[in-house]
Amino acid sequence: MFKMLPCLVVALGLCGCQKSATVAVPQGNAERGELLVARYGCAACHALPGALNQGANVGPPLFGMARRGYIGGVLPNTPDNMVRWLQDPPQVDPRTAMPSLGVSAAEAADITAWLYTLK
Ligand code: HEC
Repeated sequence: MFKMLPCLVVALGLCGCQKSATVAVPQGNAERGELLVARYGCAACHALPGALNQGANVGPPLFGMARRGYIGGVLPNTPDNMVRWLQDPPQVDPRTAMPSLGVSAAEAADITAWLYTLK
């Protein structure tokens, strides 16, 4: 019976990996997120995919954001942390140059859903 335990642990571990590979953002809608990115003028500071791109270079490019390890170099890149960051970056890191733009929690969830389409 106990010999099965390591197998079980491995199986659970694999499930965990698969789950984190498909990033689901509860309540987040990527299409709305893209509209919000336009409305908040994120492209003024970030290079990003799509028609909005102006090649801005104030902040890091948002290409491949789904695969980046850290947000702002300080927070592990998870959906919850991204929602937190987008609402108030200086609250996460007082020295960051990304300002608080007045993004609501619901808007941050939508923007997060869009950011995680950027593979
Ligand atoms: C005034 C310029 C400015 C605006 C506007 C701005 N950002 Fe940023 N953003 C930055 C800077 C600078 C950083 C780097 C922060 C750091 O590393 O501390 C950053 C970091 C980020 C990061 C983390 C990227 C990484 O690789 O660490 C994300 C995601 C992000 N911004 C998304 C957005 C979104 C979405 C918007 C629009 C809602 C937006 N930003 C608007 C300047 C801006």
